[in-house]
Amino acid sequence: MESGYIYDILGDYKFKISPLSFYQVNPAQTEILYNTAIKYIGDGGKNDIALDLYCGIGTIGIFASKYFKKVYGIEIVNQAIEDAKYNAKINNINNIEFFAGDVEEILPKIIERDSIKPSTIFVDPPRKGLDKKTIRILQELKPSKVIYISCNPATFARDIALLEENYNIEEIQPVDMFPYTSHVECVAVLQIK
Ligand SMILES: C[S@@+](CC[C@H](N)C(=O)[O-])C[C@H]1O[C@@H](n2cnc3c(N)ncnc32)[C@H](O)[C@@H]1O
Repeated sequence: MESGYIYDILGDYKFKISPLSFYQVNPAQTEILYNTAIKYIGDGGKNDIALDLYCGIGTIGIFASKYFKKVYGIEIVNQAIEDAKYNAKINNINNIEFFAGDVEEILPKIIERDSIKPSTIFVDPPRKGLDKKTIRILQELKPSKVIYISCNPATFARDIALLEENYNIEEIQPVDMFPYTSHVECVAVLQIK
């Protein structure tokens, strides 16, 4: 293992984490968080496409990859995308593709390039939540499910209120990622009406 990096194991997968890459601060609870998101895939679809938006080092997409034909991950930090590509390789995952850049710029390009119609979209944005353009793209794409992972209940409530026009909020599961603090992480599954 190369020095200068952190390596971690979550579930069946191994991850390399570079200094500039985001990584959840509580690995024990992270596994619970990701398994909750994966449970919300339901029957999934071996012929379906999924997106992992704000993918960091590719963790959620890698966890989800066995339930879909292909997963696309987008993340703004270049080093995190280098990690994500490396992580796919060391976990022998061949049906995932990662892109570096801003979700609102890269997502429309991928949709056009590959003419994809994703059935499931995972979003795990920073505390400021989803920007308006990304919400509009989700409303146009109309995936069957949006699985929203949030570390900020305020922006989460704002965003799902906008998505509620087209989606039923089926379940919201808080996960205690930050014990002994007032902070809470939530995973929600939104099902198209
Ligand atoms: C809460 S973290 C989640 C990362 C990953 N899903 C995980 O569980 O480790 C949010 C990620 O979004 C990235 N990010 C922030 N703004 C972005 C944008 N406009 N487009 C793409 N990625 C962005 C951050 O660099 C960070 O890696």
